[in-house]
Amino acid sequence: MMENIKKVLLTEEQIAARVKELGAELTKEYKGKDVVVVALLKGCAWFVADLTRAMDMPLRVEFMVASSYGDGTTTSGNVKVKLDVDQNLEGKHVILVDDIIDSGVTFAAISAMLKERKPASLKTVALCDKVERRVNGLDADYVGFVIPDEFVVGYGLDYAQDYRNLPFIGVLDPKAYA
Ligand code: IMP
Ligand code: MG
Repeated sequence: MMENIKKVLLTEEQIAARVKELGAELTKEYKGKDVVVVALLKGCAWFVADLTRAMDMPLRVEFMVASSYGDGTTTSGNVKVKLDVDQNLEGKHVILVDDIIDSGVTFAAISAMLKERKPASLKTVALCDKVERRVNGLDADYVGFVIPDEFVVGYGLDYAQDYRNLPFIGVLDPKAYA
């Protein structure tokens, strides 16, 4: 699997340390509140499993499948929900979690959709943020790492469904998708 990885951007240890910090910050902000963590599959599964275990408080987890990507490396701009949250979010403190923000289109579309369900609050968390790529000025409330504009894989992030199970986050060699 390493053959198409140009370099390791974030090691397993760096990710684990930062996820623990994020979990502690979220615990501080949300302890005592009725929290539903909404995670965007598939990429977020690895991150949200670690993040929620770093949160020392009762909470619920819901999954959504929303995709704006085909099998390429750029967004189609069209966000489709294929699997929705399974409980009423009214009056809940919702934390929307994704693996990475790129154009911001996914977070903007899903946030707007979730706000219509009248949560008590809605905040966003992303493990990685490609700030340079933003098309809509969207800002996540919590970000693990600001990363450069390169296509990355691992720790849930895929290229055409491959590489999700790498324990680190690496830059994919452009020759892999040329
Ligand atoms: P956005 O809607 O453009 O912000 O795209 C967010 C989604 O695009 C993420 O949930 C990922 O699935 C995918 N994505 C964006 N950049 C990358 C990347 O570098 N590697 C893998 N997936 C990415
Ligand atoms: Mg995704």
